Formats: sequence, structure tokens, C-alpha cells
Amino acid sequence: MKFKSVLLTSAFLLGGFGGVASAAEVTITCGSVGKGQELCKSAVAEWEKNTGNTVKVVSVPSSATEQLALFQQILGSGSDDIDVFQVDVIWPGILGNHLIDLKPYSNGAENDHFQPIIENNTYEGKLVAMPSYTDAGLLYYRKDLLEKHGHSQPETWSDLASIAQDVQDKERAGGNDKMWGFVFQAKAYEGLTCDAIEWVDSFGGGAIVNPEGDITINNPKAAKALDMAASWIGTIAPEGVLNYQEEDARGVFQSGNAVFMRNWPYAWSLAQGADSPVKDKVGVMALPKGGEEGKPTGALGGWQLAVSKYSKNPDAAADLVMWLTRKDEQKRRAIEGSYNPTIVSLYNDPDILAANPFMGELKDTFTNAVARPSRATGANYNKVSNAFYNAAHSVLSGKVSAEASLSKLEKDLKRIKRKGW
Ligand code: GLC
Repeated sequence: MKFKSVLLTSAFLLGGFGGVASAAEVTITCGSVGKGQELCKSAVAEWEKNTGNTVKVVSVPSSATEQLALFQQILGSGSDDIDVFQVDVIWPGILGNHLIDLKPYSNGAENDHFQPIIENNTYEGKLVAMPSYTDAGLLYYRKDLLEKHGHSQPETWSDLASIAQDVQDKERAGGNDKMWGFVFQAKAYEGLTCDAIEWVDSFGGGAIVNPEGDITINNPKAAKALDMAASWIGTIAPEGVLNYQEEDARGVFQSGNAVFMRNWPYAWSLAQGADSPVKDKVGVMALPKGGEEGKPTGALGGWQLAVSKYSKNPDAAADLVMWLTRKDEQKRRAIEGSYNPTIVSLYNDPDILAANPFMGELKDTFTNAVARPSRATGANYNKVSNAFYNAAHSVLSGKVSAEASLSKLEKDLKRIKRKGW
């Protein structure tokens, strides 16, 4: 008798927590570079086992710009095709209107995360996204090659350019004719906005639009930064960088054909992978300063998980979001994929710091990272970024001087701002 009622109770519980009877089907986008999708899939599989729900993980383009266009199309039509979206740190102001408030599901978990990210993810008073990982632009360098040719780490961009040129020349003369000095992201997409904002801000040229919403980009320091970057193309960087995203730069660096690379933390776990030709030869540091009076600056990036307002299974979807952003999962992602946690206490975790020494050493890079102006420009941010990366791209391609390009950019931005941001 007793046995039977235990059975009945557990059957009821199973149904109540998404067991077979009421199993939900949830569709998610997560991870488009490095080990992102693989890590997401294994965490999702555990959740499926625990809940009896099923999940479809959909692949998305690797470019943040292309992802946003796709997501705007899906959400803009009120489609329920995707329940959980992985959203970029710059999107809450653009997509917030289509996302549910996660507060009723979070049980206060947001208090454990970096509060500026939580503020960033709060749209009209609603917590529209839970942070999954944070990002800052970093400089990767070949420790072995710098040592071999008698160089120390670069402090300024001009140090970087001269070291890059010297090592490139000597390595080519020594037989590696594929060697390049520096690879980064210069395709006309969101990644270039990040790289270019780093150059500009490192010279003290600001971040396109200031927190008050004023357009600040048309200034001589910004012009200097962009002209400097243009001088790298075809000298220390292959012409091809004009079409590089993160994974293209990583491909060249990881196969041993670049001295320096600008990339995000995820590239570390892959460069250190068992099959990586540069394993144990790589150092990670803050990006260089823009001259003696400049400062090292990395762009602030990062990804969150959010639930579509059009989802037919918001409870299951939100439960999955909480599962994927919880502490144990952030720890696993940090150790296996070098994704920086957003939960503050994980920065004292010895296992995480052992796997990723830079997460402890480069604290300033992460805490002082320069934010793109997505808060100040709100729903217009994508247009602002678009105008900026196109302006930067035309300077890098040698089509126009930085001065002329920035003066045109200022006019374009004023037009976008005409009715206010
Ligand atoms: C990284 C950053 C993201 C940024 C993107 C640009 O994924 O985390 O914030 O927009 O790179 O390519």
C-alpha cells in the first residue's frame, strides 16, 4: 500500500516538473564560435535528462551582425520558432521589447553576477536576459618567437608594429614564408566595431558616442588611431584581414602563422588544445596603449540568454536559461572553453584560475573594458555601429583618409540621431 502511494507521488512529481506527460520542446540558439555550441549541447542534454523536456539547438551565423539581422526578422514577425536566444551584450536595447522578464524565474540568482551586466540586461525595468559569459578584447602573442628574436612585450601599438615587422621578416627569412605580424578582425561587421573602438579609445579618442548621447567620434585622436591601423594592412597584417572575423584570425594564429592576434578569451582554450601547434607557446596580455599618453583598452563583449515573448513554453525556456547560466555551468564553461564567468565569486575559483591564468592576471582589462555606446543609443545602436564599422573599413582599405571618413561619419550619425537616439 505504502509502496504504491510512493510510486504515485513520484509519477505526479515527474509530470509536474516536465516529465513525459507534459514534456515541452524548446528551441535554443547558443554558441557560434570556438567550443560554444559543443558546450551548450552537453549542458542541454543534462537538462533534457533531468526534466524530460527536449531541446533543439539551432546553428546561427558566426557574425554577430548577421545573427542580429536574423533574430530581428524572427522576433519582428512574432514567430515562436525560437524560444531561447543567445544575445549579445549590445542587444538588450534593440531586442528588449520581444523578451520576457526573467525575474519571476531567477530566484535572485542575478545578485551573484556582475551588477553592471545585470543593469545592461535590464530593459524598461525587466530583466530580459541572464548573463552567460563576459568578454574583453585581449592580445595573444607568441612567447617563443618574442624570446627567440629578443623582444619584450609591446607597451604601445607602435611597439607592437615594430616587433611584428621584425619577427615577421626574420621568420620569413628563416623559411616560414606564411608568417604575419598581426591578425585581427577587420571585416565590415560588429567585430570591427570592437577592434576599432579599442584603437580609438586607447588613444583617448572616446567611444563614438559618449554616455550623454553626444557624438564624439570626429576627433584627431580617433583619426590617428584609424590611420595607424590602416598602415598595418599589407605590411604586418595580410590584406585578408579586411575580411576576417574572430575564427579567421584564430585560424592563422593557431596554425603558427602570426606573431600577435587580437581576440576574445575563448581563443585561449583552443590555442592550448592538445592538437594545437602553438600549445604552450602563447601569452595573453592587455592590448597596447595608444602612445605614451594612451591607455590599454579592451572592448567589452559578452553573451546572455533570453526568452522570446512569443515562446509557447516560456516556463520551460526560462528554466533552461537558469540552468545554463548557473554557477556550476559557468565554471565548466570557463575550464573547458575559457569563457569568462559573469558570477563574481568564480574569479576566486582555483580551478578556473589554473586553467586560465589571464582571468586573474588581467582583472583590470575586464573591469575597465570600454563599452560600445549601446546604452546611450538604445534601439539605434545597430545603425550607429554599422556606420562606424563601414567608416573604419573604408579607411583600412585605403579608400579614404581617417579625417575625411570621420567627418562623413559624424554627419551620418547626426542624421541617425535626428529624432534623438
Ligand atoms: C564577441 C563579443 C560580442 C561582440 C562580438 C563581435 O562575441 O562577446 O560582444 O559583439 O564578439 O564580433
